[in-house]
Amino acid sequence: MINRKELIKKYLDFFKAHGHKEIPNASLVPENDPTVLFTTAGMHPLVPYLLGQPHPLGKRVMNIQRCIRTGDIDEVGNSTHHTFFEMIGNWSFGDYFKEEAIKWSFEFAIKVLKLKKEKLAVSVFGGDKRESKVPMDQTSAKTWETLGIPKERIAFLKGGIYESDNNWWGPAGKTGPCGPCTEMFYWKPKNIPPPKEFNPEDKRWVEIWNDVIMEYVKDDNGKYNQAKQKNIDNGRGLERILAIMNQLEDNYLTEIWQPIIKKIEKISQQKYAENKKSMRIIADHIKASVFIISDGIIPSNTERGYVLRRLIRRAIRYGKILGIKNFTSKIAEPVFEIYNDYLELQKNKKQILQELEKEEEKFNLTLEKGLDKFNKIIKNKKEISGKDAFLLYQSYGFPIEITQELSKEKKIKVNKKDFEKELQKHQKLSRTSSAGKFKSGLADNSEATTKLHTATHLLLAALKKVLKDNNIIQKGSNITSERLRLDFSFPRKLTKQELDEIEKMVNKQINKSYEIKKEEMSLEQAKKQNATGIFDSKYKQKVFVYSIDNFSKEICAGPHVKNTKELGKFKIKKEESSSAGVRRIKGILK
Ligand code: SER
Repeated sequence: MINRKELIKKYLDFFKAHGHKEIPNASLVPENDPTVLFTTAGMHPLVPYLLGQPHPLGKRVMNIQRCIRTGDIDEVGNSTHHTFFEMIGNWSFGDYFKEEAIKWSFEFAIKVLKLKKEKLAVSVFGGDKRESKVPMDQTSAKTWETLGIPKERIAFLKGGIYESDNNWWGPAGKTGPCGPCTEMFYWKPKNIPPPKEFNPEDKRWVEIWNDVIMEYVKDDNGKYNQAKQKNIDNGRGLERILAIMNQLEDNYLTEIWQPIIKKIEKISQQKYAENKKSMRIIADHIKASVFIISDGIIPSNTERGYVLRRLIRRAIRYGKILGIKNFTSKIAEPVFEIYNDYLELQKNKKQILQELEKEEEKFNLTLEKGLDKFNKIIKNKKEISGKDAFLLYQSYGFPIEITQELSKEKKIKVNKKDFEKELQKHQKLSRTSSAGKFKSGLADNSEATTKLHTATHLLLAALKKVLKDNNIIQKGSNITSERLRLDFSFPRKLTKQELDEIEKMVNKQINKSYEIKKEEMSLEQAKKQNATGIFDSKYKQKVFVYSIDNFSKEICAGPHVKNTKELGKFKIKKEESSSAGVRRIKGILK
């Protein structure tokens, strides 16, 4: 038996011995990245460094990164897929390359985790003969062979870039670092010996490892260019490894799920063995919701808030199948114990539980009636019209995905296209564009976004000064090439006069043509110098601090402009409430 914390320690110790420094576990909300909703992999917060910016801790880093993948929500309910998971990862920024990466992955699996070599298989990039001209990855295959993986357990997967995602990873969004990858699989059945030959189609082989050889960067035109800096991006899902290490074929039987499952069993007075799908979905969705709320998101009808709403409401719907009500905050309780090493989770506990309860109360008001309505709508029908799906959404709070799922169970279709049209008509907001963001784009470091990023620093400093409140903290930042959006803690609406003054103050700094100073220092030093940032991290890390004269000093990964005069003129376009105690300002540069 091994538990989560022991596994993490083993991993960090091993890679530390190979020169890696531990970096923080970043927020689920990607900083300054308007094109993706959530952090989906450990590499996500590292894009600037994968593109060549030097990392303050050097060329080898590692961490445990919390991630959310929304693409897999429909898969949740089986034994291995989760919305929230922790990725244990290690990276080389232009330092070691595939031979070392593979060797260490193998050594960690065999020597440290003591996995049986006879139960391992690997896949490598099979080459793409068409546009990309990326050849098959013989070096990786040879390296695996040298380490003792027999030829028949090495599968060259064809396809890659233009065919499917077989052994080609990334970019995480539309553009950015990517490359061929080589994956390690483990034979999961306890009582059936593994076949001699590896068949990647056989689902009993479970992927446990992904070594990405980041040799390419995809550009805005969809072209794959050789990267200036060749990196290694290795990631492994902690949940799967933990299950394997404990010889459990079902991830939900491990100690990071069991307390939640047990709580569901207790509340519902039913057995997991007979209700696996519903209980897995509830446990998964509530765990994910706890982490999403902790990172500053509340349920809403747009973007991240919508994903959160969808997760909570789907959990409630499955709760109804089990016959339970008003349960979300109770089921959330064990999450705080399992993850007691997440300090922010403990700090935000009260608010997280409140948000869950609020959302549950809201949905409880309409769920029953909505289900009645749904049953009436589908009488003698083969398809639910867009108008009816919209009615369920608008009047009964059914996310379209819930309507789709209910319909699938009854073997009828939903006209999603017409639903989108209805939605657009009513809200001028396309769910498709929001859904597109689940997959697309990484932060571009374009000139426009860089300028807006510097303007955000000026704005935050001006807010503290004009509102005479040094306790104001940034709650979120979202920058597109057109505008900045800053969420900050403040209890009330700002007056017109205050907004004018803030705008004036920002423009004054711009006109002073200040050079932006970038320094590297320890977190401790940054704290002493009163830099703005989050200090409750347990990591003794080095950070970059950006200063704009004596006006602003913030811990930040950058990038920023060289001189404030590059910004032009700042204008506040909107001030509004974001959530309880949090205000939102949108601004532009002209
Ligand atoms: N980025 C890769 C993945 O998500 C490896 O870390 O699988």
